[in-house]
Amino acid sequence: VAVVRVDLPERAYDVVIEPGALDRLGEHVRAVAPHARCALFADAAVARLWGARAAAALESAGFAVTRAELEPGEAHKTLAGVQRLYDALLGARLERRSPVIALGGGVTGDTVGFAAATYLRGVPLVQCPTTLLAMVDSSVGGKVGVNVPQGKNLIGAFWQPARVVIDPLVLRTLPARELRCGLAECIKHAVIRDPELLAFIERELGAIRALEPAVLVELVRRNVAIKAAVVMQDETETGVRAHLNFGHTFAHAIEATAGYGEILHGEAVGLGMLAASELAAKLGDGPTDLPARLRALLGAVGLPTRAALPDGAALDAAMAHDKKVAGGSIRFVLPRRLGEVQVRERVAPDAVHAAWAAIRSS
Ligand SMILES: NC(=O)c1ccc[n+]([C@@H]2O[C@H](COP(=O)([O-])OP(=O)(O)OC[C@H]3O[C@@H](n4cnc5c(N)ncnc54)[C@H](O)[C@@H]3O)[C@@H](O)[C@H]2O)c1
Ligand SMILES: [Zn+2]
Repeated sequence: VAVVRVDLPERAYDVVIEPGALDRLGEHVRAVAPHARCALFADAAVARLWGARAAAALESAGFAVTRAELEPGEAHKTLAGVQRLYDALLGARLERRSPVIALGGGVTGDTVGFAAATYLRGVPLVQCPTTLLAMVDSSVGGKVGVNVPQGKNLIGAFWQPARVVIDPLVLRTLPARELRCGLAECIKHAVIRDPELLAFIERELGAIRALEPAVLVELVRRNVAIKAAVVMQDETETGVRAHLNFGHTFAHAIEATAGYGEILHGEAVGLGMLAASELAAKLGDGPTDLPARLRALLGAVGLPTRAALPDGAALDAAMAHDKKVAGGSIRFVLPRRLGEVQVRERVAPDAVHAAWAAIRSS
């Protein structure tokens, strides 16, 4: 078992990583939010696989459990989805002290987290992430929210969980493509903060893909520690938390111009990290050997290293749109050396186009 403590000025919480933790979910929730009742909100696909065990664990710890399911998929990360959760909470008359548990990937954690942040102005939230991405990224740090037609993640809040309970054994049912996407975010953490983690992923890739419990605990622990450290430095993203966007300026443009569902977020992040490291090398202030090393690792993981991309103008427009919606100017998070990044603005368009060319397949 590994525990990472997230120490924030207003609250501190533990991220517990343990094979079999799902069966101790009730004890974990009771430790931070002792109450007679709780709500278990799960991704419907995850509920079919793991919901009964989670509910049994909560009941054996003495909770009366109100259950509801969320339709899987980014398309359901909406205010309508949140409204359904409010209905379940109100229907069961859950109170200010009743904990809400999110069981699923990042879509579930973000949606349930937003409901928890706003129901009765905030109730205790326990994150129980079931994708690698959610374990190492979205469940830690307190960003919760939903999409609206105008853009992704535009409605939301900062609402830190009371605890994060991670059982790496639930990854046994995760589709391999989703596991690869989670690994992209792990590689991101390594590049921005931790050269030794990059070497660990390269060395242990076989064991990771075979889901060896001890290696998964170590992988998740190291990644959560990085995410937690960044969040502790900058809880509300006024500074270094932006480093977590390494690869994401390019990735968002790739996602926006690709057909729906054609490319997953983690796949776009892999390509985006490659483009960003090419860009840094071209600008002359990034490690020259990083693009090749990244390309080799992404290839070994099974993530794409090239994609059919639209022309430069369409990509420029997508990046400009992302910037317009989010506010500010186009900012690139670029590697300076392995384990260290810097934010660059007003990058020469020619250099950006050359970076796109490095990952373009057609
Ligand atoms: N809050 C944050 O800080 C933050 C950070 C990064 C990403 N995000 C958000 O996270 C979301 C992406 O999360 P995701 O990649 O986990 O996607 P997801 O929640 O859609 O899950 C991916 C798929 O895996 C399935 N699934 C989940 N766990 C499973 C399991 N154990 N076994 C079998 N199937 C399982 C789900 O049903 C779904 O189809 C995006 O909405 C993104 O905006 C948030
Ligand atoms: Zn991401």
